[in-house]
Amino acid sequence: MCSVVGYVGKNLSRSFVMEGLTRLEYRGYDSAGFACLHPQDHRVIYTKSQGGVSNLLKNFEKSPIDGFLGMGHTRWSTHGVISTENAHPQFDCKKMISIVHNGIIENHHELRLSLMQAGHIFQSQTDTETIAHLFESLLTTHKNIKDAVVGLVNRLEGAYAFAILMTPYPDMMLVVRKRSPLCIGSGDDEMFIASDMLAFAGKTNKMLFLPDESFAFIRKNSIELFDFKGTALQPHFQIVDIPWTSDMKQGYEHFMLKEICEQKRVIQDTVNKYRAQEHEVYQKMGLVAQQVKELQRITLVGCGTSWHAARVAQFFFETIARVRVDVGLASEMRYLPFFLEKNSIAIGISQSGETADTLEALRFLREQSVHTIALVNVPSSTMVRETRGALSVYAGPEVAVASTKAFAAQVTALYWLAHKIALEKGLINERALKTAENELLVAAEILESAMDQYKREIVQKLAPYYAQFKQALFLGRHISYPFAQEASLKLKEISYIFTDCYPAAELKHGPLALVDKEMPIFIFSILDPVIYQKLVSNAQEVKARSGHLIAFAFEGQKELIELADTAFVIPRVNPLLGPLAMTGLMQLFNYHIARVLNRPIDKPRNLAKSLTVE
Ligand code: M6R
Repeated sequence: MCSVVGYVGKNLSRSFVMEGLTRLEYRGYDSAGFACLHPQDHRVIYTKSQGGVSNLLKNFEKSPIDGFLGMGHTRWSTHGVISTENAHPQFDCKKMISIVHNGIIENHHELRLSLMQAGHIFQSQTDTETIAHLFESLLTTHKNIKDAVVGLVNRLEGAYAFAILMTPYPDMMLVVRKRSPLCIGSGDDEMFIASDMLAFAGKTNKMLFLPDESFAFIRKNSIELFDFKGTALQPHFQIVDIPWTSDMKQGYEHFMLKEICEQKRVIQDTVNKYRAQEHEVYQKMGLVAQQVKELQRITLVGCGTSWHAARVAQFFFETIARVRVDVGLASEMRYLPFFLEKNSIAIGISQSGETADTLEALRFLREQSVHTIALVNVPSSTMVRETRGALSVYAGPEVAVASTKAFAAQVTALYWLAHKIALEKGLINERALKTAENELLVAAEILESAMDQYKREIVQKLAPYYAQFKQALFLGRHISYPFAQEASLKLKEISYIFTDCYPAAELKHGPLALVDKEMPIFIFSILDPVIYQKLVSNAQEVKARSGHLIAFAFEGQKELIELADTAFVIPRVNPLLGPLAMTGLMQLFNYHIARVLNRPIDKPRNLAKSLTVE
């Protein structure tokens, strides 16, 4: 997954493109590149480098290229190793066509072979280069550029968004979109192009989300928009205000730390917004009250952290609203048989609203005639546009690749929603909904006070000690099991320590063989008294084998606390909100372990924030 940023206008393009790329670097940081048309002779001039935008910026010291039409790219590698050759822009044989691309061309191999047989010479291993050569060839066989683009998109399979600059068209940029995001911002005699409008936030709020399967010729004060058959479309601009400040880290060492510390406010904001919009919530979901009353099944889908939030929320809907829930891992579920049941809805959970696996799962569910709803943190995202209804979580922009505050906001929103559905079904009364809102606010307080209580010990003693281990095991039971999965993912992705996660009772069915002093075991407690006792037995099994135990427990859980080598103890909350109350502490501990190891915490190797390829 990559970012595309472009500029066509009255000013030189480089400074906008580089700032845009910096803002979108969360989308990939394996390599970066910039291309523009030479202001006088319209040659394509370019520079590329391995690594992030900061490396590319150094190139301009030797080669300060710039032009009125420019575009840039950051890459998250899919086809071909991380190298300067494979960085974008890519070119045709004569370097008259220059392309930056996000997505995957699934039939690139056969296209490449036929183009090579026709004499085209390739310089990279990328699927992107295929587009440039194919377009080169189509421009010679079609009578005008529009027909050549229609011919091009008919030959390309996959999901893609790309921008093209061409020497023979010195005042125009071509942009093409199929199933990957691309938006255009309209300014005063200038147009901004980007994979995410965050790139031009603060420059314009007049946005065109390029329709799916469309292409456009963009000049500084005009857009010609077409569908993939070549039929002209009317561009529909919207006014969208995006919050943006240049000092987004606000003094924190990492975005991740800032985002961890924002969670109390995020939970409060989410509760307050849902409370204020209580009477509009069904309308936002595209439902009427009667449908909610009759609801029998909810399918939740997501990936990574959002999938963990869904797994935690399964307990909310089943326990509070008495609705059966299936949780699907988005990348898997669309390839499994689906059994449609009446009175069912599906909720796609996603921070970005752009994750390709989740988008495809929602498209699949929609094709099965399921009513799809997006629960996202980015209200302008593709998921919102493609589903029948949408709810926001109110985490605010999340920049660090490791998702933290979005998880807290998702869990908050889903807990509230489970109560709202229970109310509609007559299972609880208005007062219980208010109590649930207060329970969320209490959990938010504990999330923050627990971090304050343990911060010094984590920084000075615990993180330096646990950073020495090469692996760790995570255990939970019932609702604390998906939370343990989230904790396990968080530690591995930012620290590169190998982690695995099991339901605690599964330990004796195999993983117990791994237990020794070299592998700390994180165990996440639960407030249900019966399940808690079982968890204590599982902890004893670990200690009996000289295992090293780190327990996240609740006040009064004496047995577990005494068994643990390290214990974090937090006040009691509603049992279903135990994971939410522990979230900050778990993330803070993992963050400081990664910090001791000096990892690039906000941008872990090989990852990206928003994954728009399957
Ligand atoms: O934007 P989404 O919530 O759809 O993203 C899903 C996952 O890619 C994301 O949660 C990922 O697992 C995070 N890096 C985890 O910290």
